[in-house]
Amino acid sequence: MELKKIDFSVEVYNSFDELQAGDAELLSAARDITAAAYAPYSNFLVGAAAVLANGKMVKGTNQENASYPVAICAERTLMSAAATQYPGIPIEAMAISYNNKNGESSKPISPCGVCRQMLAEFEERTSHPIKLILGGMSGEVYVIRSAKELLPLTFTSGDLKQ
Ligand code: THU
Repeated sequence: MELKKIDFSVEVYNSFDELQAGDAELLSAARDITAAAYAPYSNFLVGAAAVLANGKMVKGTNQENASYPVAICAERTLMSAAATQYPGIPIEAMAISYNNKNGESSKPISPCGVCRQMLAEFEERTSHPIKLILGGMSGEVYVIRSAKELLPLTFTSGDLKQ
């Protein structure tokens, strides 16, 4: 038996002001777009903003439903829009923020498991890492160099051929 260690690193910024200009712009757009979220059940409004390799910005928000499992997260709304409007174009970076009507929004959230899976395949199909910028309306910001870091031992299309 061999113990295999998988490293994960995250850049932690104390505040928005420490971010590189492009990352700050994207996080600002993610914060703003939380206003377009439809989250009357959770009151947890999530916004995502991404810049593509062609320079275009695409945004997404969570869209809930009275039939709860129908809800779609902001990240997957964004990726679906990006892949539809700009087929084949990689996402360079995606910022994710939120506005919690029932609580604070002072620490980063990171994508749920389903979104991690879709992010991993988006990276794979475009052969390009997606930088993630994670932050609330205030507080620390996390920057992760590639979404696949969030999903070690990812199940991918290649596994279907095993
Ligand atoms: N949600 C997102 O949109 N993205 C995340 O990264 C975490 C969760 C949404 C799903 C649901 O509408 C609400 O937040 C509460 O879970």
